[in-house]
Amino acid sequence: MDSPIAKVAPFLKWAGGKRWLVGKYGFVFPESFDRYFEPFLGGGAVFFYLSPDRAMLSDINDELINCYKSLRSDWQPVYKKLKIHQKKHSDDYYYRVRGVNCRSDSSSAARMLYLNRTCFNGLYRVNLKGKFNVPKGTKSLVLLPNESFDDISNRLSQSEISCRGFEESIREADENDFIYSDPPYTVRHNLNNFIKYNESLFSWSDQVALADSLRTASLRGVKILASNADHESIREIYSDFGIWNIYRVSRKSNLASAVEHRGDTTELLISNYKIKGLEQSKRTEVLQLASSTKSFVSLRSSNTNHF
Ligand SMILES: C[S@@+](CC[C@H](N)C(=O)[O-])C[C@H]1O[C@@H](n2cnc3c(N)ncnc32)[C@H](O)[C@@H]1O
Repeated sequence: MDSPIAKVAPFLKWAGGKRWLVGKYGFVFPESFDRYFEPFLGGGAVFFYLSPDRAMLSDINDELINCYKSLRSDWQPVYKKLKIHQKKHSDDYYYRVRGVNCRSDSSSAARMLYLNRTCFNGLYRVNLKGKFNVPKGTKSLVLLPNESFDDISNRLSQSEISCRGFEESIREADENDFIYSDPPYTVRHNLNNFIKYNESLFSWSDQVALADSLRTASLRGVKILASNADHESIREIYSDFGIWNIYRVSRKSNLASAVEHRGDTTELLISNYKIKGLEQSKRTEVLQLASSTKSFVSLRSSNTNHF
């Protein structure tokens, strides 16, 4: 008999990562589906949380996808190189590694893991030329205790992993598959610096094209959950009556570097299925938005279904 595949934690820290979502709102995903699609993979927090039997994982970042593929197919050379990075880690060494172009897939995967674990804030960011440009941080642990690359590799073994844009991936999803969509957040007009940074990577027209792709997939019978910025322009592009439920969820913000600017921030969860437990939930931080009237109804004080 095959031994069951162990559940593992994400191995990368990623800008916009959804560890907080699965930690606080683990009940929002459908109970059953055929294949799992994650077209904006990043650190894959939802994939690792759901641990689906069959998954189609993709992202436009080729270095990231190489890292996943290398760990899936042959993790030992990556692990060996990571051990060398751990031994040699210092200020100078970090910047030397940051500046090199790797010749093999395993070196590139080990470089990505090393930089991700030792850079400032542990976040992968590239400049407009696609070069990783984050300065060194204070953390120096490259090999994490309790992390098993063998388990990670097994977990990924039943996934198709590809470097491609979201439209190609979403087009493949069929009736009863499930897509979790988590693009870089961009809105039509904004004054938010993080969202402005994302605009160079994901334009407003990408955002509109994404809503169109998801709408078409929904009409094919695909189950969909989409994260996005809590902004009127996002609500507008998902406002087709009868398809989307729009919920607001809250999380602790850690984007602003100054401690006094940190606090609770809200995001949208957009689904084409009713999220069981959300309306009846006494969770005070969940608000359901009535998208057709553009007002929102707080579930803070009652369990009444307002629709
Ligand atoms: C917010 S992150 C996803 C975070 C992920 N959910 C997690 O938990 O770590 C968005 C991802 O979308 C990818 N991306 C940006 N533009 C894309 C595109 N046009 N097609 C596919 N992926 C894209 C980025 O490389 C990035 O990894």
